[in-house]
Amino acid sequence: APTQPSSIANAPQSIKSVAKMLASNKYKKIVVLTGAGVSCNAGIPDFRTPGTGLYDNLQKYNLPFPEAVFDLGFYARNPDPFVQLASELWPGLKHSPTITHSFIALLEQKGMLLRTYTQNIDMLDVLAGVSEERMIECHGHFRTASCTVCSKPFDGEECKRIIVEENRAPSCLSCKGHVKPDIVFFGEGLPDRFHRLVKKDVRDADLLIVMGTSLMVSPVCQIPDMVRRDCPRILFNRELVGTFCRDGVKSRRKSYSNKERDIFHAGDCDESVRLLCSLLDWDEELDELNSST
Ligand code: APR
Repeated sequence: APTQPSSIANAPQSIKSVAKMLASNKYKKIVVLTGAGVSCNAGIPDFRTPGTGLYDNLQKYNLPFPEAVFDLGFYARNPDPFVQLASELWPGLKHSPTITHSFIALLEQKGMLLRTYTQNIDMLDVLAGVSEERMIECHGHFRTASCTVCSKPFDGEECKRIIVEENRAPSCLSCKGHVKPDIVFFGEGLPDRFHRLVKKDVRDADLLIVMGTSLMVSPVCQIPDMVRRDCPRILFNRELVGTFCRDGVKSRRKSYSNKERDIFHAGDCDESVRLLCSLLDWDEELDELNSST
């Protein structure tokens, strides 16, 4: 047999196990759950990584607490911190999908993706080519806007122009309340689409892959506990998080395969995905997808 590159030959057992599962062609209803960690390599900071996370870098707004920048009540009283942040963060075309985003699009191309639940508002899944039908932006998106008081829709482009160019919160044409883009703030419900699809998706899922999230925000963080007991759960993340922590204690091991159902591989999700795809001989398709975005 052709000698495999050393990286493949001594790939960690956890990655080998995942590759074996995906190569078995047995998993056709994969649910993916992602958070800000999958967009860090695209140049977008996550929220909670100490030092670099967004919540450690909001000093200039002197907020009562970091999450206030995305808090509905706070926005009504003082929209300026969010307006300032949004004008800096507004997803334009300055960020490209990562290898991990392209891996999700590749799973869809191979007919293996049931749904991807992203907590991110950067729209990189859309740019990576994941179809709208296969994706749920659990914490909303910037494409449309509405009033935070009477919920009346407001033109998304006009909202962007006022926030980014005039650096102020748009006022609702009906009730004069503050308008914001349709990203989900703390204190707000998730999009109906989430509630409509999640119950059936977790019942139908035959494999769950969680990447780049601290699993700290409900209700999305409950998804790993909602899939069937016989649904294997994979975690590609820098650290062990949420329900994957065995006996509530963070395992210090770099990776483990919990005999029942969990496989954890610690590290950069792009590196884990790239190693996985090289074991599956999917790297060419992956690179092609990623370079076409
Ligand atoms: N590869 C793998 N994991 C990574 C990487 C990377 N390159 N970079 C960061 N991570 C991990 C971090 O270790 C952390 O566990 O991704 C996780 C990111 O967690 P958070 O910063 O808390 O982001 P997220 O889980 O998406 O936050 C959830 O909180 O503020 C709200 O609405 C906001 O959607 C957001 C929600």
